Amino acid sequence: MKPLKVLFVCLGNICRSPLAEGAARKLARELSLEGRFAFDSAATSDYHLGEGYDPRVRVVLEKYGALFDHNVRQVEASDFREYDWILGMDEENMRDLELIHPASSTARLALITEPWGGGRVTDPYYQDDWACEQTYLELEDLVNRWLARWLEEA
Ligand code: 4NP
Repeated sequence: MKPLKVLFVCLGNICRSPLAEGAARKLARELSLEGRFAFDSAATSDYHLGEGYDPRVRVVLEKYGALFDHNVRQVEASDFREYDWILGMDEENMRDLELIHPASSTARLALITEPWGGGRVTDPYYQDDWACEQTYLELEDLVNRWLARWLEEA
C-alpha cells in the first residue's frame, strides 16, 4: 500500500510545523505504522530557509523522544500534487496556501485543528519557553486524532 503523505505547514517552519512533524513521526513509530505514512513540514514564508528548528523546539522534541533531521523549506507548487493532505496551523497559513495552490492540486487542505472544531495553534515563537511544550502537547493530541481518522478511512 502506498504511504499516505502528509505535509504540515506554518509560517516559519521552525516551531509549529516541525513540532507536528516530530509528534507524527513519533506516534507512527510507536504504533509501528511507519510504512503507512510519510510526514514532512514546510513554511509559507522564506524567513528561515535552510535553518534547523528553533532551539526551544529542539529541547521539547528531545524531551518527548521526537527529534528528527530538519531543514527549513518553503511550500512548493509540486507539494500540492505530491501530498495527500496539507495541514496548516492557522487561518493565515490557510489563506497563503489557497493563494499559491496550483489548479492541478490534488492535496486536501485543512486546518490541523479541524478535529477540535477549528481555531489556531498558538505560535510559541512569540511566547515564553514553556509555550513550546504546551504547543507540542496540543499538536500530539491533534495528530493522534488525525491518525485515527486516516486509519479509519484507509
Ligand atoms: P512558526 O513560528 O510559523 O510556528 O515556525 C514562527 C517562526 C518565525 C517567525 C514567525 C513565526 N518569524 O516571523 O520569523
